[in-house]
Amino acid sequence: MHISDLARLRETVAGWRRAGERVTLVPTMGALHEGHVALVAEARRLGRRAVASIFVNPTQFGPAEDFSRYPRVLDSDLDALARAGADAAWIPSVETMYPAGFGTRVEVAGLTEGLCGAFRPGHFSGVATVVTKLLNQVRPDVALFGEKDFQQLRVIQRAVADLDLDIEIRGVPTIREADGLALSSRNRYLSPEERAVAPRLHAVLAEVAAAARDGAAVAGPVAAGTEALTAAGFQVQYLAVCDAGSLAPVARVAGPARVLVAARLGRTRLIDNVAV
Ligand code: PAJ
Repeated sequence: MHISDLARLRETVAGWRRAGERVTLVPTMGALHEGHVALVAEARRLGRRAVASIFVNPTQFGPAEDFSRYPRVLDSDLDALARAGADAAWIPSVETMYPAGFGTRVEVAGLTEGLCGAFRPGHFSGVATVVTKLLNQVRPDVALFGEKDFQQLRVIQRAVADLDLDIEIRGVPTIREADGLALSSRNRYLSPEERAVAPRLHAVLAEVAAAARDGAAVAGPVAAGTEALTAAGFQVQYLAVCDAGSLAPVARVAGPARVLVAARLGRTRLIDNVAV
């Protein structure tokens, strides 16, 4: 079932609620792959109604980013959602999300300043704003986000806690290709040569995580990892070991931590992260 009208979405969800059913939301920008499918499968596993949204959100792309060339493949996305067992696809128009006169933004301080936030000004404000709207439109009990976008997951958890939204935000582990490359809608931009090099990103993350595990200083492994990626042809934006909650960089691992990376490979920007 595919819905583009907000009143109809609300009626549909209200009907489920009257029947005592709980609702899970999986927000996406489409161009769906097995990572998105895993989120829908997790929603189904929770035994609830699963709504997936598809909206390529203009406010989270910078002026020089790939908004206009972001892949839009609605028919195959609807097939993928039907196969994954989603109960409804919520596909709002730009006018529904940002009607004339729209003037509100959700800004999450602190968490959005480092890592991707430093390289994509305004990105997380665009994400927090659109996700807040999607959560209020669907009003799910639970919303699922991939750990692939770890900073995004933490930003949304913060916004939902700060704004007292009564919705559980859950992370789902990253789905990878057999060679370690994290699935991403942007992988289709990679040339065959770039695709062959791309798994180095995950390999370096695993190396840094292993080196940091025993509480050793992280600066050496991070420098070696950056050098290895640069030698392989990446332009590294950041490679950092951070506290898994606050995302503040750590010099040594003392509690739950995450190694995070963003790098360009040709025209394509790739991100990934692993637990230490
Ligand atoms: P998008 O990039 O389409 O991703 C939708 C969801 O799928 C996100 O929660 C993302 O973390 C998750 N995901 C992507 N690749 C994954 C993988 N390999 N394994 C597991 N999960 C994966 O993220 C966005 O869209 C947008 O910013 C959005 C939250 C929809 C707001 O516009």
